Amino acid sequence: MGAHKRPLPRSGLLCFNVFEERRHKELASEHSGASSFCDHQAGARSDGLMNRRKDTQIVTKKTDAIYAAPLAEMIDFQFDEKVVAVFPDMIQRSVPGYGMMISTIGILAARYAQAGSHCYDLGCSLGAVSLAMRQRIAQPECDIIAVDNSPAMIEQGCALLARDMTSTVPVTMICGDLQEVAIANASVVVLNFTLQFIPVEERLGLIKRIYAGLKPGGILILSEKIAFAEPERQQFHVELHHDFKRANGYSDLEISQKRTALENVLTPESLDCHQQRLHAAGFNFVDLWFQCLNFVSMVAIK
Ligand SMILES: C[S@@+](CC[C@H](N)C(=O)[O-])C[C@H]1O[C@@H](n2cnc3c(N)ncnc32)[C@H](O)[C@@H]1O
Repeated sequence: MGAHKRPLPRSGLLCFNVFEERRHKELASEHSGASSFCDHQAGARSDGLMNRRKDTQIVTKKTDAIYAAPLAEMIDFQFDEKVVAVFPDMIQRSVPGYGMMISTIGILAARYAQAGSHCYDLGCSLGAVSLAMRQRIAQPECDIIAVDNSPAMIEQGCALLARDMTSTVPVTMICGDLQEVAIANASVVVLNFTLQFIPVEERLGLIKRIYAGLKPGGILILSEKIAFAEPERQQFHVELHHDFKRANGYSDLEISQKRTALENVLTPESLDCHQQRLHAAGFNFVDLWFQCLNFVSMVAIK
């Protein structure tokens, strides 16, 4: 993982594509001087991405109609170009309280960011959390490391963040698997609706790694769609969530097709399960600060 170990910039925006970097490494090892080739390419590539980013057209303003027509074949949900183009609309109309959560994460980051530390946005999508943190953090020498494994998300996220002139807090966007990104010297770590996409058996390991990488007094903000153990409660929240989506203009067909597409990729767990895991990873202070229907956000402080 050369990209995030390289000294981070103290201003501006840097984009790395870890998948590209790996390919460069493979290519380099076929030749000689693997690491210098890679380092050289990394510099050139980040410039390349910056240049591409300037030219990148912002395509994320479309209305979500991905599941509006009957689909002949249902494929698992992916964060691909089609989803990226409608993502802001999709998440606003699907996640109750999303806007409130984003702005409050900015406020939490302002309080918990520590001078000279990293703030992580894991599963950053288009960088809404990074943007909110960046606009609020006032501590000196802080930077933000935003990670997502969807190249389309990172490409658009870089373009969107580059237009933000409200702050000088540096952001490094990494296109790669968050499981492979080192977490160190962290004061704020955010998993905003990301853990639910990580295989259940890997979740405790990730939370332990975040705990280990946090400085004393550091905070993990964890937002998730949750499930309820009691069938009656589960049904109540699922039905109300569907009402929420209908009220936001989604049809029954869209709701049902999207639900099927997400079935194998998004695994919600109970609030109790999340809180127990946070304690098991070492956090003493764990609290729920937001809930709307079956969507919650928790804090865990080291
Ligand atoms: C629901 S979205 C997160 C929304 C975003 N945090 C926000 O607040 O707007 C989940 C994101 O996690 C990313 N993701 C899922 N698994 C990942 C992994 N293993 N490594 C990096 N990103 C991942 C997906 O590509 C997707 O963009």
